[in-house]
Amino acid sequence: MSAGRPTGIAADGVRADGREPGESRPAADGVPSAATRHSATLTVRDFSIRFLSADREVRAVDAISCDISDGHINAIVGPSGCGKSTLLNAVADLLPPTAQLSGELAVRPGVKLGYVFQQDALLPWRTTLGNAEMGLEIAGIPRSERLQRLEKWLRITGLTDFADHYPHQLSGGMRQRVSLIRTLVCEPHLVLMDEPFGALDAQTRAVMQDEVLRIWRETRTTILLVTHDLAEAILLARRVFVMSRQPGRVIRVVDVELAEPRDVFETRVTPQFEALYKEVWQVLRDQFRSQAGNP
Ligand SMILES: Nc1ncnc2c1ncn2[C@@H]1O[C@H](COP(=O)(O)OP(=O)(O)OP(=O)(O)O)[C@@H](O)[C@H]1O
Ligand SMILES: [Mg+2]
Repeated sequence: MSAGRPTGIAADGVRADGREPGESRPAADGVPSAATRHSATLTVRDFSIRFLSADREVRAVDAISCDISDGHINAIVGPSGCGKSTLLNAVADLLPPTAQLSGELAVRPGVKLGYVFQQDALLPWRTTLGNAEMGLEIAGIPRSERLQRLEKWLRITGLTDFADHYPHQLSGGMRQRVSLIRTLVCEPHLVLMDEPFGALDAQTRAVMQDEVLRIWRETRTTILLVTHDLAEAILLARRVFVMSRQPGRVIRVVDVELAEPRDVFETRVTPQFEALYKEVWQVLRDQFRSQAGNP
């Protein structure tokens, strides 16, 4: 399988990794990688991405390595353009043919991947239920089982009474919840989230963050969350990867050891949270400063 080419990620953003056991991702430079050496859900080692066009080359991601914490939420923060979305798209095999990859990016064989995009990307002609069941439908799950599995998720996210509403009849937060359900009901092992709450107002965002924490506690799924919001990264994640400005490198890894279970509203006013926020902001601020052309 050639590196970085789409491999049938379903419209709902969930697919099973189609590789043969032991086969790993990219190694686009022809160097065989060593997915079999480890059992991490996702391995990223010295991984770089360049975009080539006729007249220029963009170095999007530069030799990054990430030790993802399995069974936890992992967050990636960094300035705009540092390659966060590009990295997620590489994991999901959604990069265009102009992307040149090198190094190692390996998803453990058999891992089912879910992707929650920044925009909710719901189909306007389908109801909440119709949108939410898409992944299961594509996977060939019979309707009775689809309804049975979705019932729980609609309840958890407070959408039961909105099951027959169309997207235009839902609020932004509700639409984003439908997106979450659509991905999570397929029970992925690794969920990629790219600024999933970027379009929401601050209050709805906090409610959704709480929701993600609750869902994570229930499923213990490995989540890779890209966010601009440093507080969100620290509140939700067990491990935060701080990226430099473009070309993105990982310049700091922070293990977040806050009291569990976390509560989005309570945790953010603890001294531990404040200390972590200051520590990471110190690193990030320098990247924003240098990006803005300041010394
Ligand atoms: N298909 C593409 N072709 C050429 N360059 C691209 C392509 N996709 C992304 N890039 C470039 O790669 C770099 C990283 O882009 P990316 O979208 O990953 O940034 P990001 O960190 O997600 O930014 P943001 O926080 O604004 O979403 C940018 O310079 C962007 O212009
Ligand atoms: Mg992005």
